[in-house]
Amino acid sequence: MAFDYTRMTATCAIDSPADATTLPPEVYGSDELYADEVDRIFRRGWIPLCRMEQIPTDGSYYSIDILGTPLVVTRDRHSEVRVLSRNCTHRWMELCSGAGEAKVLQCPYHLWSFGLDGHLAGAPEMKQSNGFNRADYGLKQFRHEVWKGFVFVNLDGQATPVAEQLAGLAEQVDPYDFENYQTVEHTEWGECEWDWKIMVDNFMECYHHMGPHRGSLEDEFPAHLSSTGEVGPYFTTMWSAQAPGYPISAPFMAPGADTLSPEHSRKTLIFIAYPLLQVAMGPGYMYWLKVLPLGAGRIEVHLDIAMSPAALAAPEFEERRNQLVKSICDIHREDLDVCAAVQKAINSGVTGVGRLSHLERPLWEFYRYLGRELGLLGTTTLASTG
Ligand code: FES
Ligand SMILES: [Fe+2]
Repeated sequence: MAFDYTRMTATCAIDSPADATTLPPEVYGSDELYADEVDRIFRRGWIPLCRMEQIPTDGSYYSIDILGTPLVVTRDRHSEVRVLSRNCTHRWMELCSGAGEAKVLQCPYHLWSFGLDGHLAGAPEMKQSNGFNRADYGLKQFRHEVWKGFVFVNLDGQATPVAEQLAGLAEQVDPYDFENYQTVEHTEWGECEWDWKIMVDNFMECYHHMGPHRGSLEDEFPAHLSSTGEVGPYFTTMWSAQAPGYPISAPFMAPGADTLSPEHSRKTLIFIAYPLLQVAMGPGYMYWLKVLPLGAGRIEVHLDIAMSPAALAAPEFEERRNQLVKSICDIHREDLDVCAAVQKAINSGVTGVGRLSHLERPLWEFYRYLGRELGLLGTTTLASTG
């Protein structure tokens, strides 16, 4: 049965943020809609897999499953990055799991071995197989690009280059020396029983600082001081400004790159590179949510924390790192609780469509993006921003 897009289209077609509504609740957890999202959004888009520092040396590999497809990101002996299938070309066994360093990826079943560039390097006992040519059995390669230290994959191979899609976003993050931020903590939050769009809705507004974060963020980064920033067809940015009187201190707001203006030290930049890369950052740190869709209303969530080059070089790095990890994880827990509660409410059968505050303008932008990608808006172009 096809998904009934009538109410979703009505939300996505709203062309002014002052008129914005929520999506209708039926979009959060529909198998039919999820199938369309896989085809039109996830397979066509750029999905972040890892950071470059997670494949730090020649011979590094990093395994990750996307939409049920087992992938491995590798750095071969010429330092070239690749995204390969993890399925052996003999009888499909998974070649590896986790991350590490290896000269070859050897299948545990019949010991075929593959170079980190994907070529089949060895296949025992195959000499009597007529016409068998190792060159025909390399691992499947997927299109990838590296942008600001993130390795992205595009499963259908047809997307416009990621640097083109995110050109306007690059201008926002470049002053931070963002490309050289280094991951200092990887955290996994397991399988979460809510839709990927609930995670985006939550991530892309600071209105809720006054709710779940009233004891953690609201005093220093009050909801009312947040605003939408630069927007493009494939990204939305948001600023969360620091309340007057707070110090510009480590680990969040300092130290930062010399290229930052004093104003940067008083605000947090939050952005989404559609559909899935969600980042919050300041002069001293950044964290990103890796949301892996598992199905309608089901995701796996990872949260990785990185520090800026200036913060990594500063004294008391360890202490600041620990403080950063604890604060971010505590805040993230507050977010997970509300996401779970919202999905539970939706599952109970609510039907109403709500109104959005001006502080939720990034959600309106997100719904416009969904409308464009799902083909709900005809030939409508990006609405004017500012
Ligand atoms: S399945 Fe990999 S070597 Fe047989
Ligand atoms: Fe939050």
